[in-house]
Parts: sequence; C-alpha cells; structure tokens
Amino acid sequence: MRLSLRFVLPLAIALALIAYAVQPLVDKLTLRWFMRDLEIRATLVANTASEPLADLVQANAQQRMLAYFNRLTVDERLYAIGFCDAETGRLTATRTFPREIDCKTLTQGRMATPHVLDSSHGALHVSAANVEADLRPLGRLVLVHDLSFAQRRSDETKRYVFLFLIALGGIVSLITVVVAQLSWRGWVQGTRAILRGEGLLRPSERILTPELRPIERDLRALVRDLESEYRPRDASQIPWSAETLRAILRGELNGEEILVVSNREPYIHVRRGTEIEVHQPASGLVTALEPVMRACSGTWIAHGSGNADREVVDEHDRVGVPPERPIYRIRRVWLSPEEEAGYYYGFSNEGLWPLCHIAHVRPVFRPGDWKQYVAVNEKFARAVVKEARRPDPIVLVQDYHLALAPKMIRDALPDATVITFWHIPWPNPEAFGILPWRQEVLEGLLGSSILGFHTRFHVNNFVDTVDRYIEARVDREALTVTLGGRETAVKRYPISIDWPPAAAAGLPDAKTCRERVRARYQIARDTMIGLGVDRLDYTKGILERLNAVERLFELEPSWIGRFSFVQIGAPTRSSIGEYQQFEAAVRALAQRINERFARGKWLPIVLRIEHVEPPEVYEHFRAVDVCFVSSLHDGMNLVAKEFVAARDDERGVLVLSQFTGAARELPEALVVNPYDMDQCAAALHLALTMPEAEVRDRMRTMRRLVSGFNVYRWAGRMLLDAATMRRRGRVSPNTSGVIVPLRRGGIRA
Ligand code: F6P
Repeated sequence: MRLSLRFVLPLAIALALIAYAVQPLVDKLTLRWFMRDLEIRATLVANTASEPLADLVQANAQQRMLAYFNRLTVDERLYAIGFCDAETGRLTATRTFPREIDCKTLTQGRMATPHVLDSSHGALHVSAANVEADLRPLGRLVLVHDLSFAQRRSDETKRYVFLFLIALGGIVSLITVVVAQLSWRGWVQGTRAILRGEGLLRPSERILTPELRPIERDLRALVRDLESEYRPRDASQIPWSAETLRAILRGELNGEEILVVSNREPYIHVRRGTEIEVHQPASGLVTALEPVMRACSGTWIAHGSGNADREVVDEHDRVGVPPERPIYRIRRVWLSPEEEAGYYYGFSNEGLWPLCHIAHVRPVFRPGDWKQYVAVNEKFARAVVKEARRPDPIVLVQDYHLALAPKMIRDALPDATVITFWHIPWPNPEAFGILPWRQEVLEGLLGSSILGFHTRFHVNNFVDTVDRYIEARVDREALTVTLGGRETAVKRYPISIDWPPAAAAGLPDAKTCRERVRARYQIARDTMIGLGVDRLDYTKGILERLNAVERLFELEPSWIGRFSFVQIGAPTRSSIGEYQQFEAAVRALAQRINERFARGKWLPIVLRIEHVEPPEVYEHFRAVDVCFVSSLHDGMNLVAKEFVAARDDERGVLVLSQFTGAARELPEALVVNPYDMDQCAAALHLALTMPEAEVRDRMRTMRRLVSGFNVYRWAGRMLLDAATMRRRGRVSPNTSGVIVPLRRGGIRA
C-alpha cells in the first residue's frame, strides 16, 4: 500500500504539472477551433438570412426586420445582429449590438471581418456579410457572436483534459504498481540477498522468476568482484581487533548470530553469605573466547556451575554479561551431580584429558561415564537448537567436553555452520586408538564444518587417526575429511589473547605493580622474582618447575636469598583423585624446598593455592623478572602470551616449555624441555642475568607477534573460513561435486 502511494502520488503530481503546463496551448487550440466554428456558423446564418432580409430592406419594413433579428438572437451564441443600410448608412440592430461597431467604417470596408472585438461585455466575434438584391448591394448584415461561450467551452475542455490526464495517470500507475508489486518484492529480496552474498539459489528460498536469473548472475558476479577487490587476500594483512571481528560479522556473515557452546562458562555467580560474587574462571578457553563474544555479542551456552548461577538467570536460564555492562548472554545448562560426575569429571577429565596429553597419567574409561557423556552432549546440542533463531546459525563448539555435539547439532540443523575448536593436543593414532569409543568420538567431531587445532602437528595427528580408524575420504592436500557426504575442513588456528588485554586496563606501571607484589609476599627489594600461574593440573609441569628452581639453588647458590619463585595455582577438578594427589604433591614439594633453603624472612618458593582474578594475575606478570611456563604438554598455553602482553615496559624474560603450542610462535622465549631439570635451571639463571638490551629485544619481538596474532585473528580466520564455506555451499547446494557421465540417449538422473 505504501509502495503504491509512493508511486501513484508522484505520478499524479507530474501529470497535474503537465496539464498545467499545456494550459495555454489548450486555450489557443480551443479558441482556434471555436473561431473556425463561428465563422462557419456566421456564413450559414448570413446565407440563410440574406434573402428574407433583402425583402425586408426593399419593403423598408424596419420593425419587422428588428423582430426578425430578435428571433434569430434566441440562439444563446448569437449575441447581436445588425444591418447597415448601404444607401442611408442607417443601422437597424438588436439592443445588444455593440456601440463600438460603426456602420460607416464597416460598409466602407475599413473594418476587418471577421474579427474579435473586446467590448465592455467581453470578447465578441464580429463578422459581416453583404446583402444584395439583383446584384445590387443593399447593405451589410453584421453578426455578433458571444465569445465568452467559447471561453466557457475552453475552460470545460481544459477541465476534461486535466481529469483525463489524472485518470490516465492513475490507471497507468495502478497497472504499473500491480505489475511491479508482483516482481518488486522478489527483486528487492533478491538484490538484498545477492548483496549479502546469500543464495538466491538456495532451493527453499528461490524467489526469482526465470527471466530475472541472468540479472541475478551478473549481480552476483559483480558482488564477488567487489568483495575480492575489498578483501585482503591474506589474513596477515588485516590489523586484527575487536572492530575487525565485528566488521567481518557484519560484512562477511551479514551480522548473523553467533552461538558459542562450551562446558566452562565465562562468568560464575557464587554466593558468599548475603552477597553474590561474580568470578571469571581460570581457563584458557574463557580467556580467549570472552573478548570474542564481547566483540560479536550472541549467546554462550555453558554449564551453570556456580552455586548462585540459578539465582541470577531469567525464566529461559539466560543472564546478560559482563555484569557491569551486558553485551552478550550466557544460556546456562544445568547438570545433575551424576551427569557432572560422569560427563565432566569422568569421561572428559579422567578419560580424554590424559588420553590427549602426554603427561604419563593413565586415562580411565568407564561405560557409565560414557553414557553420561553422550547424554550431556545431547543436552548441550538441544540447547543450541533451542537458542538458534535461524536454521543456519554459526555455532562455535569448544573443546573435548563436547566431541559428540557437532554431529548432533548438524543432524538437527543441517544448514548450520559448526566450527569446533579442540583446545588440547590431539595424540597420534596409536595413543588415540585405546579409546573404546574412538569411532563415535571421531564421527561426532566430523559433524563439524570446520575442525580447528592449535598446531599443524595436531591437525596431522587427527587426519592420521581418522584415516586409521574410520571409513572416510581423507584429502591430505586440502586437509579435508568427508564422511557420509559431509565435508569437514581440518585446520590450524593458533589461539591467542585479546590485545591490548582488558585485564591489564587500569593497572599501574610495572614499578608500582612490583612494589605491590613485593609488599604482598614480603619480598625484599634486592630479591629477584620468578612467577608461575596455572590451574593445578598435572599437565602444567608445576612439580618439574619447582624442581628446576631447587636445582638452580643447587647449581648457583648465589641465588639463595636473592631469588624467590611465586607459584599461583588455581584449584581445579578437585574431586578427581589424581588432582588431589597432585595438589598435595605440589604443596609438599614447595614445603620441602622452603625448608631446605629458607633464610630469615626470605622464602625460595611462595605458593599461593587459590583462584586469583585476571587483573591481579596481570599485576603479577608486570611485577616479575621471569615467568616460567613448564607444561609437559599443552595445546597452546595462554599464560605465556598473557605475560608478554602485560609487559608494556619491555622487561621480563619468558622461560617456555618446548611442549606448548606457544613455543612454536615465541622462539624468543628461552625454550626448554621441562623434563630436563639442569637445562631449566640454566634457563632460569640465564633469564635472571640476561642483559637489559637482550631482554628488551626478545620481549619487543614477542609483543609484536602476540599483538598481531591476537585472539581476534584466531576467531576472525575461523569466521572468514566459515563465510567462504557458506558462500560455496550456496553456489552448489545440490551437487556433491560428483559429475555423472553422459549416456547415449540422454542424461542419467
Ligand atoms: O586447555 C583446554 C581447556 O579447556 C582450557 O581452556 C581450560 O583452561 C581447561 O582446559 C579446562 O579447565 P576446566 O576443567 O576448569 O574447565
């Protein structure tokens, strides 16, 4: 309706203007028509009247002549009639005869006839005809026609022309609108869809009529050209930031909603007495994804594990976060103690975790745990389907807790783009082969459109594992796996942190942080400080680290009393026996070393076993001389990158395990084998004695890398790949890439 008005109104106005503009033309034309008409009439009247008039003149019957004239002027158009006698010059005329007409000038032929006379009555048409008897001129008959009649007719004509044009305009525009309406919606939607890069070719949404398809093709080609012009060819050319990520979402993915699904939630609500506190868990996954979600908004589906989590959610189990200024929302999934025991503690952390980390802890696989793992994966997949507002959301599935969810999500939402990221290492096929449900786990993961790992090594291990254990098509060139007609791209996306890190915002300079940390642990001014920050996990090499510190004191006793090592350990998975024993072992080792080397107030090891919030962790990073990351096996290890990010003073040395993904990106760290105690001790010594210039050079280079290869790049590259995949999917949604050979007599269906 609005469209019709928008179209009809301007058209009517245009036609009115046209009518107005042609008005003088219409006047002129109608006047000419009427003049010609009057002349014909006048001739006719003159011819008809001349004979009776001649009789009356010859009979000198002036009164009868007048009566005759009055009869004639009954015709409304004939205004006046007069006769000018040729002999006497006398005028016999009706009362209405205009005074301006002078018989003398008329009979002497000095007045042109016919002509228009502008009289006090208005415009009059004056014509004269000779009246004769036996070829003898008797005088002239003067016929005066009323031209206001012509004017009235002209006005009427104009009105009709105007109304005609309006009616014509209305009819034309209505026909146009009806026709346009039929194709307009399709056109607009089609054009928009093309500009968004969406598939008009998607069969369920086919909206263009066949005749518009060539235009669609051209538009698509144009958009593709524009896109390729606009988009840098290489992700390394893009300066990655939260804004870049938002731009990718808006531009490449048409602002589509992002759903993240993970076991761990980014904010945990905990009740302390009457207060509810909000904590951010110590988790690499959370560290990486939280800034991504701040940039992208959307929904993060995760296990509600805080004891006050239920108190803050709405009726849909959702809560807006970050608490101080909600940007995205958490949709909490509730697990029973049995589910948590079997799925999280059991299969995930006593089975898959040690299976994937070479830390020499035996994995435990219990059928009961597996059952819960399957059920909880289904629960998460159902939550994803429920939260999805469209049939084709982008779902970012996180980590080893949810290995089965990708397939479950894709089965329920076949048009979804499922990007799964495996945050931990992937073992070689032999190691993975001991998993009793290896086929189910592999098939679950192959429900993903994209499956990401931190390193090429883990990508290769996964592809080898698939090749070894399931019937799937593996393309080692393209690094894709096709199972049941579904293709999964297996890719390397090294994870990272936000830059600049939000947790460091508002922190004082390194000097002040150093003073605060010294004061907190009562560390003297002349004592150098080392730092370790981890979850209390056996994969982190904390025991090896403390052993290396002890070895340093043995090998370089000059450090006794001059170097303290602060170890922050966040308790984790505490109901698992292995973790309880590990915590006990760490406490015991620290105590033993302290008992052996402590002098007065000085402690070689400061052990702090508790959860510390990110800003305080960053304060520590800024304060210390050396940070020691000694994981026995780690997918990436973000503590290393956080330390680098915190050091805007370009001080501090990183000692880094060669078994972390981070070691491949940060060779300027002192890279060590955590199992080699002497080497680690030597690295600590080297770090503490490194010339300032070298410290600065190494830190500067590492900072350059982490700033560019930040978490926005990690997420952005995955989303760009997803966008490409979605575009390709739309171009050929029905073809499996297999071209059926032609047969004589027709094409095989
Ligand atoms: O390293 C993989 C990872 O998922 C990390 O992101 C996280 O730090 C940890 O494992 C999981 O810890 P949690 O069991 O406390 O969630």
